[in-house]
Formats: sequence, C-alpha cells, structure tokens
Amino acid sequence: MASLDDAGVYKLTDELAIIQTIDFFTPIVDDPYTFGQITAANALSDVYAMGGKPLTAMNVVCFPTKSLNISVLNDILRGGIDKMREAGVTLIGGHSIDDVELKYGLSVMGTVHPQQLVTNSGAKVGDKLILTKPLGTGIINTGVKAGVVDEETINKVEKCMATLNQKASELMQEIGVHACTDITGFGFLGHTVQLAQNSQVGINIRLASVPFFPEAEEFAKQRLCPAGLHRNREFYSSAIKFADGVPSHMQDILFDPQTSGGLLICLDGRKAELLLDRLRQAGVTDGTLIGDVAGEPRGMVSVK
Ligand code: CO
Ligand code: CO
Ligand code: CO
Repeated sequence: MASLDDAGVYKLTDELAIIQTIDFFTPIVDDPYTFGQITAANALSDVYAMGGKPLTAMNVVCFPTKSLNISVLNDILRGGIDKMREAGVTLIGGHSIDDVELKYGLSVMGTVHPQQLVTNSGAKVGDKLILTKPLGTGIINTGVKAGVVDEETINKVEKCMATLNQKASELMQEIGVHACTDITGFGFLGHTVQLAQNSQVGINIRLASVPFFPEAEEFAKQRLCPAGLHRNREFYSSAIKFADGVPSHMQDILFDPQTSGGLLICLDGRKAELLLDRLRQAGVTDGTLIGDVAGEPRGMVSVK
C-alpha cells in the first residue's frame, strides 16, 4: 500500500481485505470518560477514512498505578467502550502496563471490499473537496491548558472530537468518491498536501469556506499555538502557496494538529451537492465544500 495512508490494508480474497490501524496518546481533555470517547472516535476514524467498516478493537493502556486512582482508568475504558458500542465495534482484548505517564488508545480492525477501498491517492482533476468537521481543536486545547477557555466552548469542542466519522464515511461509500483522508496530527494542510502529492494533482482551497471554531481564531490571534502546529508548518510549507492577504493566524488554524478531526472527501464535482445534502440530512451539519482539484501545480496546495 501507498505510504502515508491512514491505515494498513491486507487483501485476504478478491472480495475481502482487512484494514488495521493503531492510535494512542496522552490525555487531551480533563474528563477521563470523555478522553476515552475521543480516543476511540479518533482510532476508528482511520478505518472510516478508507471506506471500511470497523469490526473489532483492542485496548492499549499505559497507566500510572502509583499516582492515579484506578477509577480514572475505569472511566477512560468506559468512554472507549461506549463509543465502540455506538460504532458497532466489539472489544476483543488488549494489553496494559504500568507507566509513569498515562496513555490510552486502540488497535482497530475493519474490513472493506478491495475494490471499494478509498485512499488518499485517487483525487482527479475536476473533483471537489468536502470537509466534515470544523478546524481548531489543537489551538483550543492549548487554550484549555492555559485556563482561558469557557465551559461552553470546551463542551462544544469535546463533543465534536467525540463524534464518530461513521455517518460521513457511510454516505461517501454510498455515493462513491475518489479519495479520502481524516484530518489529524498533520493538520488540515499537512493531510491536504499528502492528498495532493499521493494523487499527483494540484489542490485549491477557498479559505472563506473552510469551517473552523471561531474561538480558535481568537486564540490564534493571541498566538496560543500547540508545538505540533509549528512542526507542521515547517514540514509542509514548501508544498503550499498562500495568496497575499491570508492572515498568519488563519494559516495557523490550517496547520493546527487535530484530534479526531473530520473527513476530507474528494469526489466528482457533479456529485458534491448530493453528498452535502445527504450529510446535512444525516446531521453532519458542518460538512462544507472547501475547494477543488486542478492538474497543476502537481503536489501543491494553494490557499486563497
Ligand atoms: Co488518518
Ligand atoms: Co491514525
Ligand atoms: Co498482553
């Protein structure tokens, strides 16, 4: 399989391939139950991005038994299991060790028909791009650590991160798309550059259409940025052209590493409105048309 795709794929028969992925990290929110939910939604997302159906999962746990009460772990695992239940995924095992720093994640297995596999290398000239969740969760989480985010915003952002990409994935499979990836640690632009490079196309992004949390703009203006944001900018800048007048705080939002971000879906331009309608009907109300695919310059992303 192509490098830099969302998960590993292994073909068992002409009709069946398995998708395998693993994701785990240190806590990104204060509430253990919510952390469990978000982690599970994030781990399942790579299977959804590839057009697969997640079936089973295994827990990965590193827990500091000396410094934290075991009830914290129980709450995390409960959050994960509830999210897996919502996704129709069965937890079949796992492994835990004592560690100085808490980490939780999941290894997920899903299936896909080999011909229905969706990768980040299939974008075609004339395609349109749809993003299904707003950006800015990394910047807002940095604000939470700094103690400057109100309760209402925290709840809104946590709810977004805990939302499965299941519906968006099922709808894109029904309609038929050319490429997809989920927006996570490399930020919106990092994953979009990977899509452009793996598909050998140019991608145009219309900044005014890109959905983001308004609070993220406020914090980005105050330079509240996670370290990963700067790494993403350094790593991907050479493949990105910003039009004059794109403010630097808006560039920050586009580079912001996301946890459990939305799907970036690339499909025939004539099908874009249909998918947007279906997404809205299914409650994926943040789904937005944000750009299109051009022939040149290959492997480059332009933002205007
Ligand atoms: Co991914
Ligand atoms: Co992943
Ligand atoms: Co074991």
